[in-house]
Amino acid sequence: MDPVIIVHGGAFKLLDEEFVPSEQGVRQSAQAGMAVLSLGGSAIDAVEAAVRAMEANPIFNAGLGASLTRDGKLEVDASIMDGRTKKFGAVACVPDFMHPVSLARAVMEDGEHALLGGPGALAFASEKGLSHFHRTDLVTEGALKRLKRIRSERADTVGACALDSRGELGVAISTGGKTNKRSGRIGDTPIIGAGFYVDNSVGAAGATGDGEAIMRALLCYRATMFLKEGLSCGSAARESVSMLDRETGKKCGIIMLSPSGETGLYHNTPHMPWAIASAGTGVKSGISSEKSVLP
Ligand code: GLY
Repeated sequence: MDPVIIVHGGAFKLLDEEFVPSEQGVRQSAQAGMAVLSLGGSAIDAVEAAVRAMEANPIFNAGLGASLTRDGKLEVDASIMDGRTKKFGAVACVPDFMHPVSLARAVMEDGEHALLGGPGALAFASEKGLSHFHRTDLVTEGALKRLKRIRSERADTVGACALDSRGELGVAISTGGKTNKRSGRIGDTPIIGAGFYVDNSVGAAGATGDGEAIMRALLCYRATMFLKEGLSCGSAARESVSMLDRETGKKCGIIMLSPSGETGLYHNTPHMPWAIASAGTGVKSGISSEKSVLP
C-alpha cells in the first residue's frame, strides 16, 4: 500500500501576510508526516509528527501561539485516534502546553481513560515525563493581537489523516479553540465523532471550524458514514460541510482519507491551508481548495 497523508491548518479567513507562511507550514507538516511513513512508520506516528510540526509553528492556532481565552489564558485541546483498534486519546482545556497531541497520544497508549482535562491532564503529563511550558514561552504577539481584535470567528484547528504502508489509518487534531473563548470552554477537537473519527474499514476525517456547531452536527462521524454509503472522499467532505451549514448556519472545513488512499477536502470559509503528500505525487498544497501561493 502506498502511504498518503493529508493535513490542514484551519478553516477561516487568512490575512494577506499569512498566505505564504500558512502554505509553507502545511507543506512542512505533510513532509514531517511523510518522513515517518516513508520509513515504514505507522499512521499514528505520522499524524502525531505532522500535528506536532504545526503546534510548533506560531502561524497556526495550536500549541505555540494558540488562541487565548478572554482573560488571556492559553487552554488547548487535542486528540488522536487509531483506525485499527478504534482507540483514541484526547485532552481538553490543558493550560500552557506546547504539544497537546502527544499528551493525547499518551492518554490513548495508557488506556485507563480516553479524555483527560485541565489540571488532571497536566498531572498525567508530568507522570509521563511530558514537558509543561511557561505561559510566556507559548503566548505570541500574534495571539495577543488576535485577542485584541477579538476575532472570535477564528475557531481554527490543525489536523492530519494518514494511511500507512500496512493499510492502517490514523487521525490527529489540535487547537487553541476560539479566540476570546470563556475559560473552561471545550470545543469539538477532543470529542470523538465531532472533531475527528477514523475506522480502517471506512475512512478518516478531521474537522476545523466552529466547535459548537461541529459537535451538534457530529460532523466527522457523519462524514465517514457518507463514505460507507459509497460517496467519494471529495463528495463526502462537501456533503458534510453543506450539512453543517444547513443544520447550524455555521462554517467549517474537513479533510478526509479513504482506506484506499483517496483524499478529499472541503471548506466553506474563505481559506483552509492544506497539503497532501504521497509516494507517487510528492507534495501538493494550497491556501484554499482553489488557490496556491507557492511556486
Ligand atoms: N474547532 C475548534 C474549536 O472550536 O475549538
